[in-house]
Amino acid sequence: MFSRIKSIGILGLETYMIDVEADVSRGLPKFDIVGLPTPSISEAKDRVHSAIKNNKMIFPISRITVNLAPADKKKNGTFYDLPILIAILRSSNQIPEVSDDTAFIGELSLDGTIRKVSGVLPMVIEAAANGIRKIFLPKGNAAETVYVSGIDVFAVENIAEVINHINGTKKLESVKKEDYPDLREDVYVEDFSEVMGQYEAKRAMEVAAAGGHNIIMVGSPGSGKTMLAKRIPSILPQMTETESLETTKIYSIAGEMPENVSMIKTRPFRSPHHTVSPAGLSGGGSIPKPGELSLAHNGVLFLDELPEFPRSITETMRQPIEDGVIRIARVQATVSYPSSFMLVCAMNPCPCGFYGHPTKECTCSRSAVEKYLARVSGPLLDRVDIHIEVPPVDYNDIKKKSEAEKSADIRKRVNAAREIQNRRFENSPTNCNAKMTPAETRQYCSLTDDAEKLVRSAFESMSLSARAYDKILRVSRTIADLDNEEKILPRHVAEAVRYRSLDRKYW
Ligand SMILES: Nc1ncnc2c1ncn2[C@@H]1O[C@H](COP(=O)(O)OP(=O)(O)OP(=O)(O)O)[C@@H](O)[C@H]1O
Ligand SMILES: [Mg+2]
Ligand SMILES: [Zn+2]
Repeated sequence: MFSRIKSIGILGLETYMIDVEADVSRGLPKFDIVGLPTPSISEAKDRVHSAIKNNKMIFPISRITVNLAPADKKKNGTFYDLPILIAILRSSNQIPEVSDDTAFIGELSLDGTIRKVSGVLPMVIEAAANGIRKIFLPKGNAAETVYVSGIDVFAVENIAEVINHINGTKKLESVKKEDYPDLREDVYVEDFSEVMGQYEAKRAMEVAAAGGHNIIMVGSPGSGKTMLAKRIPSILPQMTETESLETTKIYSIAGEMPENVSMIKTRPFRSPHHTVSPAGLSGGGSIPKPGELSLAHNGVLFLDELPEFPRSITETMRQPIEDGVIRIARVQATVSYPSSFMLVCAMNPCPCGFYGHPTKECTCSRSAVEKYLARVSGPLLDRVDIHIEVPPVDYNDIKKKSEAEKSADIRKRVNAAREIQNRRFENSPTNCNAKMTPAETRQYCSLTDDAEKLVRSAFESMSLSARAYDKILRVSRTIADLDNEEKILPRHVAEAVRYRSLDRKYW
């Protein structure tokens, strides 16, 4: 007998419907699967075979042919185990007919347990859009499906549950939103109120967040660079629904959804170590999974100890920083994942860490300091608008018992500045000051005569490059927006010039 069961395929962010067809007929016992990539076929066969036998069902001693259609679509992963099993049981008449508005996804263990898989959210969205009204999938993936409407999700732990439901012996309840309360709704554990003093550094973070500017911090060990960086997501504007969905899809595909979280509502903070592999960073595997650059999408990518990152790694970041996407080419296919993030870097000023420290002596030679700084990728640094020095925290500030300003209050000002930008870029693909095109920079960053004079003198005394000039204009625009000023005034420019400390000092 012939049967056809629905499932879903995925490659990168692209999803498509898959038909799993099974034919069980007389003849010498044989089990063939066609339409799957060769290496996964034998494993799928073994799992399906054992799962059926270990659950008191009969593995037909007949000729079994399973076909996964359409042939030209990539079928990677292990999530076809469950639909293959259901198709075989149906073709051998062990279960009643399954309506064609029902789909199945799931990997099997040999004992029939259904294992969690990756990419379930985009697959369920695809199913719902194609008229599927019921879907059976691993219990471990249930949380990420609750925001998809128009489809009943049956979250299952083993094949017995699926079969009992289809047979009508024990019906399952579909997953409800209430079963997965989102505890982490826009709540950040780390808050700027814990950072004592460091007013200038915090102000720079606020400016960076307000305009979407990349930022680099230079400071001695223990000055609080990591502490500051971790708190940036808490002052960025709240994620929009679209941003949440984009980010959640990436986490679903990467298999990185936190337990029982159905939607990512807090901006990601990713901090890859400098020993990260190129694949870990950009994404990889024969079927490329998203890497750190995509897991940071709509959030912050933090590169701590920037000079330790090899050139090969920092060069990989240039394209996503410019375009907001990363393309991964493989023999099988090219996959692209969104990767638009705010870049935050930190470094010590020299190998020993104390160059320029007010009380501790730097033990490095001048050439050692220069060599250390030269390790930072020029092209990467070129894409950073704001440089700051983080001094050691002042004892008098730590001593204070009172809390510093809360992230929520800083965020209010950031939001107000972003609203001005939303209006400014209403008809442009640009979404914040940091991303202005050269033409937009000219159009929106007109200076008063006094401000113009100030930039000129800074330019001459610091011998800045043309690139630095545009950065100063863009950052001045953000500072003026925070000030709710239409015109860029001398005080705005003066602050923006202060954020070019690396041009002045070392480069
Ligand atoms: N301004 C501050 N207010 C309160 N605590 C602080 C402050 N600065 C630093 N600390 C404390 O010092 C610890 C070390 O800070 P952090 O790890 O952020 O320093 P760092 O600059 O990243 O150092 P390294 O260069 O060694 O990575 C923090 O975990 C925090 O407990
Ligand atoms: Mg640190
Ligand atoms: Zn030193």
